[in-house]
Amino acid sequence: MTDLTTWFFFATCIYITSNSCKVLSKFNKNIYRSIMSFTLQVLIFSSLPFILALLVLKSYLSSSKHHKNLPPSPPKLPLIGNLHQLGSSPHRALQAMAQTYGPLILLRLGSVPVLVASSVEAAREIMKTHDLTFANRPFLNIPNKIFYASQDIAFSQYGEYWRQVKSIAVLHLLSNKRVQSYRHVRDEETLRMMETIQKAEGSVVNLSELLVSLTNNIICRVALGKRHDGRKFKKLLQQTMELLGCFSVGSYIPSLRWVDRLSGLEKNANAVVKEFDEFLEGVIDEHVNNKAVDVEGRDLVDVILEIQRDNVTGFHLERDMVKAIVLDVFTGGTDTSSTSLEWAIAELLGHPHAMKKLQQEALEIGQGRSMISEDDLENMPYLKAVLKETLRLHTPLPLLVPRESTRDIKLLGYDIPSGTRVLVNAWAIARDPTIWEAPDEFRPERFLNSSIDYKGFHFEFLPFGAGRRGCPGIQFAVVVNELVLANLVYKFNLALMGEKGLDMSETSGITVHLKCPILVSATPVCS
Ligand code: HEM
Ligand SMILES: *[C@@H]1O[C@H](CO)[C@@H](O)[C@H](O)[C@H]1NC(C)=O
Ligand SMILES: *[C@@H]1O[C@H](CO)[C@@H](O)[C@H](O)[C@H]1NC(C)=O
Ligand SMILES: *[C@@H]1O[C@H](CO)[C@@H](O)[C@H](O)[C@H]1NC(C)=O
Repeated sequence: MTDLTTWFFFATCIYITSNSCKVLSKFNKNIYRSIMSFTLQVLIFSSLPFILALLVLKSYLSSSKHHKNLPPSPPKLPLIGNLHQLGSSPHRALQAMAQTYGPLILLRLGSVPVLVASSVEAAREIMKTHDLTFANRPFLNIPNKIFYASQDIAFSQYGEYWRQVKSIAVLHLLSNKRVQSYRHVRDEETLRMMETIQKAEGSVVNLSELLVSLTNNIICRVALGKRHDGRKFKKLLQQTMELLGCFSVGSYIPSLRWVDRLSGLEKNANAVVKEFDEFLEGVIDEHVNNKAVDVEGRDLVDVILEIQRDNVTGFHLERDMVKAIVLDVFTGGTDTSSTSLEWAIAELLGHPHAMKKLQQEALEIGQGRSMISEDDLENMPYLKAVLKETLRLHTPLPLLVPRESTRDIKLLGYDIPSGTRVLVNAWAIARDPTIWEAPDEFRPERFLNSSIDYKGFHFEFLPFGAGRRGCPGIQFAVVVNELVLANLVYKFNLALMGEKGLDMSETSGITVHLKCPILVSATPVCS
């Protein structure tokens, strides 16, 4: 019997990994998938009585220890816990679970206890009232590999090191002033994209692809001082993002770490990490040797190297730390931005009235000038409302970035043990029907006369998180999104190719984006 259950878990794990990981080779994936789905089916049937017996025994055992008031939990399977219930859209599965079990749920994913918060009150408790207790990040295998032993900002442990690097980001890399100083980069790259669209002269434009290139180019120039728009770098960044979205069995069931080795995940991760490291080594060498400030002024690598030289942190900023911080800017700033732009355009294409209203606003502001400038954005309330509504409906990181509690704490009456991993389902909260009218509908107007913004003070709307661990890149991201969207609708009438409407299905991964690319014809607006 134990042999059988071991097989069962093994098969489930491989199955989950192969489904979640785009980076694994097609060959590996297909073989695993077919063998394992067969094994799974056979095993589920043969081990069903055993599992049921275990479940009954377990609920009997757990009902006998009453001293802790833990949040409700859905029934779990041995070893894998609730892993099998997350499916390919965890934010949706967890939303459904919250409807049954309430705003605080305690899951067990493998051997890891995971608290899921799905209401405004729960989010406020975690990210404001008890922010300090929940300011840690869990140890995660793959990010740990990618970010040089988690020495970046997003995944490093709460403590003095994180405080120092976060403050470098807030004060020096992503401050208002710094973001302003890269205005010419945004203008030039936006203009470049518009020219590409113009050249297509009404034939199919792959907007998804253009938006990915645009955000990559902006971040490359800001962070590294120049474009790296060859296919090689694009692929490398894409692979890194895919790795971050991969499910690693070993992160949840340490005794099954070998599954990651067997599935090829570990080998793949090591290869991608090595390649990115070589790239960043080259970049840093170039910056160290090339002391003269180039035409574009100082890029983020220059700034970090200066901080390193001037000993600002009080400890020596190692080379790996520098690379980890640069990587954070790439992984945090590219995919999230292009994804929200994609969703905004997808929603506008599906809501011609909103598209028209936005275009009207742009035409009135632009007044026939060649481009809408960043100074104009302040006077475009509908544009801002459209982007907010997009982030509400399509939160790029629907479960934000996981946190971890560092001591026992009471939350809404429940006991939460130290070391519990925490997911805030910001996506579900932003669609809570008790707070939002017609929550699933795209209605930018709801933000027009509302003081709600995304800076982390309104817990019903948290696309950038909140509190100590909140996103330091808000200004950076928002101005790119606004400028690009404003100019797109100012210059072009966009129409979908083909008869069918746009497929709005989501993919899973670290960010949730559109499954199918947006293919449009773009005709210039006569103004
Ligand atoms: C639409 C764009 C973006 C979205 C939706 C987004 C969202 C988020 C979220 C949800 C978190 C976790 C917050 C929490 O745990 O409470 C986060 C953290 C972070 N973001 Fe962003 N972000 C975006 C753009 C950017 C940009 C442009 C950068 C940098 C150039 C950036 C850098 C970071 C960093 C470094 C962290 C880690 C902060 C920490 O752990 O202390 N993000 N972001
Ligand atoms: C459009 O671009 C996306 C993203 O680069 C790509 O996956 C897709 O194959 C492209 N589609 C077409 C029809 O060019
Ligand atoms: C940098 O600061 C640390 C700690 O204050 C000190 O030990 C080290 O010698 C300093 N390095 C330089 C180059 O000033
Ligand atoms: C917003 O408020 C203004 C006046 O402050 C009002 O004229 C307008 O109708 C309101 N719009 C909506 C959508 O409620």
